[in-house]
Amino acid sequence: MHTGIRCINRSLVLGTVCVALAGSAAPAESQSSQPQTGLRLASPDGRNVVMVDVREGFLYYMLQRDGRAIMLPSRLGFEFRGARTLRDSLRLVTSSRNTVDNTWTQPWGEVARVRDHHNELKVSVLETAAPGRRFDVVFRAFNDGIAFRYELPAQPSLGEFTIRDELTEFSFADDARAWWIPSDVPRLDRSEMLYASSPVSVIDSIQTPLTAETRDGRTFIVIHEANLVDYARMNLAGGREQNRTLRSALAPHAGGDKVRARTPFNTPWRTIQLADRAIDLAPSVLGLNLNPPNVLPDVSWIKPMKYVGIWWGMHINTMTWHSGPKHGATTANTKRYIDFAAANGIGGVLVEGWNTGWDGDWIQNRNAFSFTQAYPDYDIRGLAAYAKEKGVKLIAHNETSGGVQNYERQMEEAFSFYQSLGIDAIKSGYVTDMTTEGHSHHSQFMVNHYRKVIETAARHKIMLDVHEPIHDTGERRTYPNMMSREGARGQEYNAWGGEGGNPPEHETILFFTRMLAGPMDFTPGVFDILIERGTGRPRRADESRIRTTLAKQLALYIVLYSPLQMAADLPENYERQPAFQFIRDVAVDWDTTRVLEGKIGDYVVVARKAKNSPEWFLGAITDEEGRSFDIPLSFLPKGRSYIAEIYADGPGAHWLTNPLPVAISRRTVTSGSRLRVLLAPGGGQAVRIRPAR
Ligand code: NOJ
Ligand code: CA
Repeated sequence: MHTGIRCINRSLVLGTVCVALAGSAAPAESQSSQPQTGLRLASPDGRNVVMVDVREGFLYYMLQRDGRAIMLPSRLGFEFRGARTLRDSLRLVTSSRNTVDNTWTQPWGEVARVRDHHNELKVSVLETAAPGRRFDVVFRAFNDGIAFRYELPAQPSLGEFTIRDELTEFSFADDARAWWIPSDVPRLDRSEMLYASSPVSVIDSIQTPLTAETRDGRTFIVIHEANLVDYARMNLAGGREQNRTLRSALAPHAGGDKVRARTPFNTPWRTIQLADRAIDLAPSVLGLNLNPPNVLPDVSWIKPMKYVGIWWGMHINTMTWHSGPKHGATTANTKRYIDFAAANGIGGVLVEGWNTGWDGDWIQNRNAFSFTQAYPDYDIRGLAAYAKEKGVKLIAHNETSGGVQNYERQMEEAFSFYQSLGIDAIKSGYVTDMTTEGHSHHSQFMVNHYRKVIETAARHKIMLDVHEPIHDTGERRTYPNMMSREGARGQEYNAWGGEGGNPPEHETILFFTRMLAGPMDFTPGVFDILIERGTGRPRRADESRIRTTLAKQLALYIVLYSPLQMAADLPENYERQPAFQFIRDVAVDWDTTRVLEGKIGDYVVVARKAKNSPEWFLGAITDEEGRSFDIPLSFLPKGRSYIAEIYADGPGAHWLTNPLPVAISRRTVTSGSRLRVLLAPGGGQAVRIRPAR
């Protein structure tokens, strides 16, 4: 089929030529063993079309939406250590097709039911030169994007192998505007940067998910990966060097190798999510559909919850992790937090600094951490019993400082110990200044470590909230105990000195970037916006502080999804605060999610229906500009009347000059009502909509 070949030829220069020619390529025959070129795979709605072809020995894919080029011919292949590069001299040998349409339920999530409807094309290629290796690429086309992965079958000339580089390309047809964080940062453990925005053509080296908007505003494109198992994390590099062609850049082991494995072997999925509008990007289920189903026989112990913690005090300097007069994790203090949680219907209490190892430089002394030995002023057994009596769960904290061998040595014993005490949730952390034994924080070595922790925790019926994690690639479908993670710049940056904190636009970018990968433990709900309690005076505008209004802190409970959702402030800062009622009431698990309004970096309005409940919640946030929206409540069922409990920015509210006023009001609404949502500069609004009694 020469049409396909000509298509690739010309479209290297002129993407649109490709459209007509490839559109005329005949579909491949199932299980054909004839040499083939120009294979075409369309999504169930026909809008997303992948074309696969071999030209001059190179294997390419292309992507179109509604006949418009999204990805120009992009090459596929691998560079191995000690073996020829597997990218040229290729020939298509066979292909096969499949269609799947099924719906599955999540034990918890942004939506309860997920439809997996896709068409699949598997192509097998053969290296025509010696050593004549074979591999397959499986493409799946969904209505919300496409995905592909490499499958390396067992074969005499490809047994054990070491990948030096994965040569996957993403050749953008348009110089789309992208939102990204860099991957070549000095702090190796971090994804905790502020987002930048630029055309794809000036990108050097970035992390995924990468979100991009074509210059005509017609298509939103998100590149990420799914089911990252026994492989290195994928970053993207090279838009500047290679004129809009990004290539996969895997995180290295010590010495620079990327992946060590043996055949048969499958890589993670490379995903390209597509949408016509930014608001159609979320909630993103493409990655979930590419992960294997749940493997845990019993998930009844896995329960989303809100939590408070001995935590913010350390970040604002009223408490310490280490021992001494300001030690936060004391028995008395923990009881106070447990009492507060019990009195306010909050499920969990996180305690940081309870275990020995924090004294001295805890980042350098990473092997000093014990995960079972409590400080003498922390009665872990007594507190576990006290929490149980009050119907509250203790959340154990495991900071590793990146000392993963130290952690792995103790993990089994520590997790059994927690299980014996009824502690079924852990917040872990991987703050570090160094690589782990020379391996990148996101290397195959670390990917395997994070996976081992999930599996060990599952065996001991423990839920996980991981800070400084590997990025989320949908693991929660297979292991629903993998609840939440940080992996972006969270609230903690508002506490620390120097940088001023997160700018007002930050969360409006997170929603369309990081949050498309999965839940985030952002830790919302700080009411002491000027951090007076930590500093003894209101922090100045140039110091770190919360750069939102108080009402926006409430709205973040709806906007930034996490099944473990913190009320981050000190309990004393919630006293005599009528707005705290919203945190008491807000749900943490959802049947349905609807994004009603949104512009990346400017604003978001989201409505979510609580799981197994008739209640709806609405959250709206804006950047530094004040805005208003007129929101039809047509998502409510007809014929029923509801009370909307509205927590809005009060008169004159402004994130910088007047962040505290919250106006609380109530009105009766139905599905025919409209809600006028007024947001102050840097503001937000949170609404609970409950059936009228
Ligand atoms: C960084 C985490 O993000 C934070 O939540 C934690 O308190 C510190 N590390 C100490 O583990
Ligand atoms: Ca962190």
